[in-house]
Amino acid sequence: MNKRLVSGIQPTGALHLGNYLGAIKQWVELQYDYDAFYFIADYHALTGRPKPADLKRHRIELLAMLVALGIDPKKCALFFQSDVPEHTELGWILNNSATIGQLNRMTQYKEKSDQYGQYVGLFTYPILQTADIALYDAATVPVGEDQVQHLELAREIIRSFNSHVGDTVLVEPKPLLTKSARVMALNNPSKKMSKSVAGSVIGLLDDPVTVETALKRAVTDSDPNSTDKSPGVANLFLLLENFSDSEMVRHFEGQFQKGTLRYSELKEQLIEDISAFLAPIQKTYRSLLEDEITLQRIAEDGAKKARPIAGETISRAKKALGL
Ligand code: ADP
Ligand code: TRP
Repeated sequence: MNKRLVSGIQPTGALHLGNYLGAIKQWVELQYDYDAFYFIADYHALTGRPKPADLKRHRIELLAMLVALGIDPKKCALFFQSDVPEHTELGWILNNSATIGQLNRMTQYKEKSDQYGQYVGLFTYPILQTADIALYDAATVPVGEDQVQHLELAREIIRSFNSHVGDTVLVEPKPLLTKSARVMALNNPSKKMSKSVAGSVIGLLDDPVTVETALKRAVTDSDPNSTDKSPGVANLFLLLENFSDSEMVRHFEGQFQKGTLRYSELKEQLIEDISAFLAPIQKTYRSLLEDEITLQRIAEDGAKKARPIAGETISRAKKALGL
């Protein structure tokens, strides 16, 4: 049997190229080599206190988008976190293997609590994330760079649990990063591309005109005396490597090296290639959303694959604890 791999993504609104390159693209590639468990982290999304109607819509839209991007529900388990109650059950258990001090070090809590308030769910978010991973004995967790701190904490929490029960009952995971793990904001390349930074993203549902506007505004400033790429230019090259063919990459690299690169031409190429990449995905996404029954069936089938494995881990953890 293949090695297990697990990852989740929150249903918090339309995905962007950062989410795709930093996470989902790998999910698609890895589903063929691993026994993959991919879930929509709807319990985690509660930490942003979304309006119920928005959460409901975002859940189903994310499911459709994941399938449109190439996640094959036959190859992996694709499900909603809240359909597998063992996530919260193990989350409770692991509350007792994490300290306030450890949680206090999480930079994401500091950022997000400014936005959403100091809710306990937001604070203990990484404990539930640890449960998500440990439930499936996952050795590998593909995520973007901003999740590395949570992953390191998950490893500590799991070690603490195992040391308490005196046995390696839960498996310690490792993060899996690719070189495109961090896509920067188009309008401010010192920050990561994020839906919470206005003007920073290209959304997977953007039409060609919106893609054009975003790219034309992308920051390229560079020091004329430097031979290195500025962060904005490096970010555009990262997009080029991912969405254009290798000949184009060589062509623009060559121009950059010679000092003859015209940013407007690089941007035109990106507008064309990114729009061409998005068009068929958007078409599939729209047709999937028209058939909610099939989407619901996909999620139910996914939960059916996940539950027995999650149940087995919970039994093991409870037994080890003396429950
Ligand atoms: P956002 O910052 O837009 O709210 P999320 O925090 O919901 O995005 O991230 C969802 C997934 O996408 C995570 O695995 C995260 O690591 C990845 N991700 C988000 N933004 C980027 C980015 N700019 N570059 C690479 N990966 C990203
Ligand atoms: N915290 C992750 C994010 O914001 C989502 C997530 C929840 C996750 N549980 C997980 C990722 C388990 C990997 C593994 O993107």
